[in-house]
Order: sequence, then C-alpha cells, then structure tokens
Amino acid sequence: MEFQAKWIRTSEETGGVCPVFRKGWKTEKKVERATLYLTALGVYEAHLNGKRVGKYVLAPGWTAYDKRLQYQEYDITDLLREENELTVTLGKGWFRSPMPGWQDTPDKLQRIGRPGGILGGVHIVYMDGSEEVIVTDQSWIWGESRIRFSEIYDGEFCDDTFVTKEWNTVKEFAWSKEILIPQEGEEIREQEVVAAKSVFRTPAGEMVVDFGQEITGYVEFTVDAHAGDRIHILHGEVLDAEGNFYNANYRSAKAEITYICSEGTQTWHPALTFFGFRYLLLDEFPGEATPEQFRGIAVYSDIRKTGEIQTSDPALNQLISNIFWGQRDNFLDVPTDCPQRDERLGWTGDAQVFTKTASYNFDVERFFTKWLHDLAADQMENGAVGHVVPDYLVGGNASAAWADAATICPWQIYQTYGNPQILKDQFTSMKKWVDYVTNHTTTPCLWTGGEHFGDWLGLDAPQGSYKGSSREDFIASAFYAHSTELVVKAGHVIGEDVTAYEALHENIVETFRNTYPDYRTQTEHILAVQFGLAEDCQKTADALAQMIRDDGCQMRTGFVGTPYILHVLSNYGHTDLAYTLLCRKEYPSWLYAVGKGATTIWEHWDGIMENGEFWSTDMNSFNHYAYGSVADWIYEQAAGIRVVEEHPGFEKAWIQPKPGDQLEWLGASIETRHGKISSRWTHTDDAIRYEIVTPVPAQIVIGEKEYAVEPGKYIFWE
Ligand code: BGC
Repeated sequence: MEFQAKWIRTSEETGGVCPVFRKGWKTEKKVERATLYLTALGVYEAHLNGKRVGKYVLAPGWTAYDKRLQYQEYDITDLLREENELTVTLGKGWFRSPMPGWQDTPDKLQRIGRPGGILGGVHIVYMDGSEEVIVTDQSWIWGESRIRFSEIYDGEFCDDTFVTKEWNTVKEFAWSKEILIPQEGEEIREQEVVAAKSVFRTPAGEMVVDFGQEITGYVEFTVDAHAGDRIHILHGEVLDAEGNFYNANYRSAKAEITYICSEGTQTWHPALTFFGFRYLLLDEFPGEATPEQFRGIAVYSDIRKTGEIQTSDPALNQLISNIFWGQRDNFLDVPTDCPQRDERLGWTGDAQVFTKTASYNFDVERFFTKWLHDLAADQMENGAVGHVVPDYLVGGNASAAWADAATICPWQIYQTYGNPQILKDQFTSMKKWVDYVTNHTTTPCLWTGGEHFGDWLGLDAPQGSYKGSSREDFIASAFYAHSTELVVKAGHVIGEDVTAYEALHENIVETFRNTYPDYRTQTEHILAVQFGLAEDCQKTADALAQMIRDDGCQMRTGFVGTPYILHVLSNYGHTDLAYTLLCRKEYPSWLYAVGKGATTIWEHWDGIMENGEFWSTDMNSFNHYAYGSVADWIYEQAAGIRVVEEHPGFEKAWIQPKPGDQLEWLGASIETRHGKISSRWTHTDDAIRYEIVTPVPAQIVIGEKEYAVEPGKYIFWE
C-alpha cells in the first residue's frame, strides 16, 4: 500500500463475536477516482454507505500468512457520497481457525490465540487534481456486529435483532507490512445459485432440504418471522441407509448456522465462512419450510471453465459432472482435499494428482501460480515440502507423491498454458525439493527410510490400513526419479544448468532398475511405466493388464496409482481394458459411486458400500476430487487431445483419439491459450467417424495413419 496505514484491532477481546470497524468522512469536492485498499488478519466484508464493496467473498483469501498476505484494491468511485461511512466486518477466517480439527499442535494454539485486525485506506483523487488518503488508524471506531460467531469449521451465528450500541476507539498494533502483496490469485466469488429441489421429512421425522447437488458455499434463505424466532441448520452430504440426515463424517466440524430473526420478511446468508453440503437439516425453523425459501450459493475461485466432455453414456456424463463439481467445490482459493469436515486443507498430494485435469477443466493458471508461491514460501529451509499448503500441519515429514507437488504442479501448469514464468518462479523450490530427498535418503539414488502416505487408500491395503500394499520406498524412489526429471526439463526450458540433475536422474533410474527388478502391485507396475523406470515398458504394461484381468478387471490402486492407470494401459495397446475400467459400474469403479447417486467424487471407492452402510465415519468424504483425475485420460486418450511437450500451451497439438466399443460416441474440447481444440468420434453402422477442429498446427493420428495438418476442421472415417 502506498500510504501509512496502521494495523488496527478491537480494544478488547470479543470472544467469538465478529467486530465491525467503522470510519466516517466528508467528501466535499468533486471526485475523479476513489480506490479502497484493504486486507485483514482474518476474513472481511466491507460496506461503503450501506453498499457491499466488490464481490470478493472471504477476502483476503488464504495464503502462507506469515510470509504473504494479499491486499485488495476496489474502485469505489461510484459508491462515494458527500457523507461517507465505511464499515468492515471481520471474521476469524483461516487466519485464526482451529485447523486441523484432529490435533492441537502448538502452531494451531498460537494461531487461534493471535489477534485479528484490518489494514487499509481510501485514496481519493479529486477533479481539481488534489488527493486525499484516509487510512486505518486510531481515528477508527469499532463495535460488536450482529455476527455473534463465525469460523471456517463451525459455521456462523447471526442475531439479526442485534443493534450495535457501543462504539469504541480501535487499538493500533504492530504486525508486519512486509508480508503484503497485491491480490495474486483469483478472487473468490459467489458463482452459481442452485435451487432447492425439495423439502421433506425423513423417517426420523427431521425436516431436510435437498439441493440435488453437493456444493461448497452457503445457503441463502428467506423467512417471514417474528423477532426472536430461532433458526438452526446443520449441513450434510448424504443421507444414511434409512434415509435420515447424516453428518457424522464432518467429524469435529460443527458446520452449523444459527440465526435469530428480526420481525418480518428477511433474507440472509452467512458471509464469513463456507460449508460443503447437499442437504440441510432444519433443526429449528419457523413455519413449514418450502423449497422456494432456500438457494444454495456456490462459492469458489473465479476460474473460467475451459473444458467440456460429453459421451453417449448418461452415467459417464454424470461422472464428468461430478468431476467438474468436485473441482468447483474444492477450488476455494487453495486446492483443498474436501470442503466439509475438519480438514479443508491444501493437501499437496491431492492437488498434485488432479492438476492436469484441473487445468483442462478450468483456467487455473493464476490459481496455481498463487498456491505454488505459497508452497515455496512455506517450504522448509532444508527443502522439505509440507503435507498441506498453506502449512497448517507444521513439522510433518515430507511424503513422496505429496511433496512432489513442488515439481509436478508447476510443470503441468507450464505444459497446459505455455508460460515459462511459473518455472522461473518455482525453479529454486523444485530443486530444493529434489535436494531434500538427496540429503535425507538412507540409500543414495533411491529414497529409502522416509515416512510416507504410500498408495493412499489403495484397495490392496492390508486390513485396517489406509495405505495400499505398494512398497513405500518403491513409490518414494519412483517419484524421486520423476521429480528429478522435471527439474531437468524445467531447467532446459528456462536455460539453467542442470547437468548435475541429469546425472542424478540417470543414476536413480539405474539404481531403481537394479533394486526393483520385479513389480508386485498394480501401482508399482503403473509407476514403473509412467515414469519410464521399467527396463521394458511394453512388457510391464502387458503384465499390468494381465494382473488387472486376473483381478476380475478391477482396480486395486489408490491416490498414487489411479491417476495414471488408464494412461499406462492405453499408451501400450490396452485401450480396451482402459475403457472396461472406465465404464465399469460395479464396485470398485468410478461409476459405482454414480450408481449410488453421487454428485461429486468420493474419497473412497466405497464411501457408501453395496449394503448401503458407510465405509466409516472417520475418513469418508463425499467430495474429494483426487479420483476425478480420470478426466485427463478422457481428454488426452479417449478424445486424444494432447500437448506436444516442446510446444507447451497447445501451440501445437497432438490429436490421437482412441475410441472404445463401450460408447457410441464421445466428444471433448479444451479452450487453450491458442483457441479451442475439439475432438469427437462416433461409431456408425460400419465405421467410425472423427471430427476434429484445431486452431493450431496439429499431428492427427487416426488408427495407424498420421496426418500433419494446419489449423482447420477435419473429418476422418475409419
Ligand atoms: C486427506 C487427504 C490427504 C490425506 C493424506 C486425508 O485426511 O483428506 O485427502 O491427502 O489425508 O494422508
């Protein structure tokens, strides 16, 4: 900020109550332009003369606050009057949130105890050329707002009958301004309104609202009530086997709304928190509720939809819809694992797994650029990358496939969008991560002796374990090779000397081959091929295909193997089997959850088991995007639209559709930086018709034939 604003806070602790800060001033001359700069330790909502300033929800967003705090800039010229009053309501947000919910780390205790506050100012340029600044300082006052409580996990409590009577002078306090950065990510916005589908009574007699779609955001309701009437609402993702309201899987997150009505018709929604939900339990609600009274407001980062997939199979189309919703619901400023339970953290592994799909579905360049800057900011001195970014689990050991987000995400963002800046920004962080492994392994050129999440939630996990059976050192060493290779590639792009990493990569591959001559699980086969570690990739992919068939055409993979399984199959001539897995409806499969009514992607293949019971209450999110990464196989293999590595950002394209007998037709498109590429194939009576539109020079492969084409529309028959 250009001027000398002071951090201000309440003069006394308000407990859970959200304070409102206030400043009035007169603007007597004609204004040419007025700008509000604002940020907070917490989340804020500002009003000028009774009107909401901007559309940013949960500003200033979530960053590695100790090192980076975004401030926002709003054009408020049209909101100014002669007599002005600016109010800023402050919630705890992520800044003072008790995250994570399941342990009281010293870091968390320190976080919830620290003060919230705001910093900002108004800059007015008058028609006569003079300027004025009004900054946060001792001249502001504060009072308690009608928001009696607000926090990320537990929800919000608003007393609409509350009137602020007591206004006090604020307290200036010392907090770094070095950490300030201009808004870097996408703004979080209200994006979509989902109408309530029904209001019904469950067998247990509860009044429940169903939106028909799991969303992240909040409900807005309208009621005609008497002053003092109480509303109490709980959020849930699914109904239980008996059809009753259920939210034990939110664990310690209360995710509740309490609202004390004023007199008459009123409309309200929470503003300083969010929920992941499809169902609402109207625990207390005045009168007989009707669907028209409820609107689900989907809140997420302002990412533009760029991808489209359609097929002849309605179940598959529902899966695609679930993948897109899973992304919307978990792209709320940071890529979160889930939006409902007492986590909602930027788990690096989940993000890594999903980045490619994410980048085709939506334009996430800015979104990831900001998050990767936070990753680098929170990276430890020794190069370790935390399990979550921003790092609210300080002190955890770096895990393979999670921490590798440091290399995989920037490389993918570069591939999809073509801007090498992300590699320049992240290069030090990428190298530091690989160096960390080099310095911490117990065996040179492998990664042994670490602590990992393994093939998280793999279906071949031993009884009682979350980790699949693939060897952890195997996975860790495979990702070590992969990350080193990405450092080499990134270095070549931005002109850095990476000879040491080239040699390291060669050595890792050789050592890996000597150490792991055999592969024991599906995921081990997959990684060996996907990362070019297998001596004979064709033979290994064939063995994988055989293994899957022997398993009754079932996947056994978890977070690590699943994103690559179909790629490995169809890259080595097993496209048929890839389609069999994709279109399989029985458990375990992507479409199993669809059959169970899923509207987002589940954390577990069997979140709801065949008998209708839940997998567990402990770890059972119904909105975890990771397995939605299958969409990148559909774009790249089924529809065949691929980046040419040397021409990132789809400057040139490789288009090689691979039709499957299980579908009549399939079409996909990606709006790239160079225009929209689309590919569609249809089975006709005796042939397959392909329709490809490319705005860039492309290499099109249809069956065995290859065509080098200029931009245009092409029809092929096979
Ligand atoms: C999260 C995950 C995450 C995992 C790591 C879970 O609690 O929800 O998605 O990657 O922990 O083990």
